[in-house]
Amino acid sequence: METKQIKKQREYIEKVSKVNEGKVLKYYILTMGCKLNENDSEKIIGMVEKMGYSESKDINDADLYIINTCCVRENAEEKVFGKLGELKKIKEEKNIIIAIGGCMMQEEHITKKIKKSYPFVDVIFGTHTLHKLPEDIYKTITKREKIKDIIDIDGEIYEGIPVKRSNNRQASVTIMYGCNNFCSYCIVPYVRGRERSRKKDDILNEIKGLAKEGYKEITLLGQNVNSYNGENNYKFSNLLKDVDKIEGIEIIRFISPHPKDFTDDVIEAIQASKKISRLIHVPLQSGSTSILKTMNRKYTKEQYLNLINRIKTKIPDAVFSTDIIVGFPGETEKDFEDTLDVVRKVNFEQIFMFIYSRRLGTVADRMENQIPEEIKHKRFDRLKALFEGNIEQNNQKYVGTMQKVLVEGYSKNNPNMLTRKN
Ligand code: 5AD
Ligand code: SF4
Repeated sequence: METKQIKKQREYIEKVSKVNEGKVLKYYILTMGCKLNENDSEKIIGMVEKMGYSESKDINDADLYIINTCCVRENAEEKVFGKLGELKKIKEEKNIIIAIGGCMMQEEHITKKIKKSYPFVDVIFGTHTLHKLPEDIYKTITKREKIKDIIDIDGEIYEGIPVKRSNNRQASVTIMYGCNNFCSYCIVPYVRGRERSRKKDDILNEIKGLAKEGYKEITLLGQNVNSYNGENNYKFSNLLKDVDKIEGIEIIRFISPHPKDFTDDVIEAIQASKKISRLIHVPLQSGSTSILKTMNRKYTKEQYLNLINRIKTKIPDAVFSTDIIVGFPGETEKDFEDTLDVVRKVNFEQIFMFIYSRRLGTVADRMENQIPEEIKHKRFDRLKALFEGNIEQNNQKYVGTMQKVLVEGYSKNNPNMLTRKN
């Protein structure tokens, strides 16, 4: 259901497109970070295109620049400041609008830095005010004022924001926002706020609409999807079962679940479904029970391995992907060996590997036993080598089997090959 606030923003979209009438205007967008940010950018693009801007892939050829930032690790932040440096030069030559938003903008030390060192930025918007971009842009264009539109309280859930999807077969649908877990290394709970679940009917209607448009694959998104909490005790497993019934949708995925909330009803919902992918993402973070404790992950090495076994017992063809952080404060050689041990035991299909990055304001940043960069990098390389060394052998099990994949068209490079975009 479209909310009142979104109606108001649609009026601002109209106003901006009136101001822009008759002009050929382009936008350039840079999206950093996770699938949730990509999904937010699809909404940003949906609004911006309705305001009369068309996409430019060339950084030197646009009128409106948008950066949708991520702050989960330091390197993403550095990239943003690099981009702002580039935009400064463009702004000196041309009359452009620069809007910067997303997770990084929820951090006070960052917005202060932008105001001080990058004062040419026109609009700063946060994760809870993304839907107000049309109003912010209107005010910038008409009044030439600098706008900082950030709130600290958890944003409401706004339904009905225009969306321009980046793919016409595979779509991501956010089911919940925020996170209550406060893993000690993670900045997300500070910048995305507490958990808020969308109403089940809003989610199901969106997916039914996508199915009608010809979408085949749906990824349910959330910082912690399996703590989805709809009205009247409607849980993640209920949602999985209802999405499963939607005709036309053939593949269902979800990211990211938390191992502690991976209850039997969720496992049974996957087991009962022919559409839910058997590649299941179960973030490990560390294989060491003592590190898991200081990470505040709320499970042990054994409980993680048990979960994998519980899933495999009910769903024998299940395979797994995971996230692992190396070099968390206090990680000893023995702790790291535990991580390698879990990697050997589970035989992951895919591992998203991260070097621990200190995030201001988190509990882990205040820990005294930080690991030297050199050791972190060495461990990262060892983990990578272990994983990569197993890929060939791990893939042998697929030789001669038939697997269902979503193809989206013919390859640009080889017309005899079918391919998917991402
Ligand atoms: N340093 C390194 N990796 C991190 N992640 C989250 N916070 C940090 C951090 N401070 C990783 C986790 C998470 C993924 C999205 O990013 O593995 O699952
Ligand atoms: Fe961060 Fe942990 Fe929440 Fe994931 S579950 S977003 S890692 S705090």
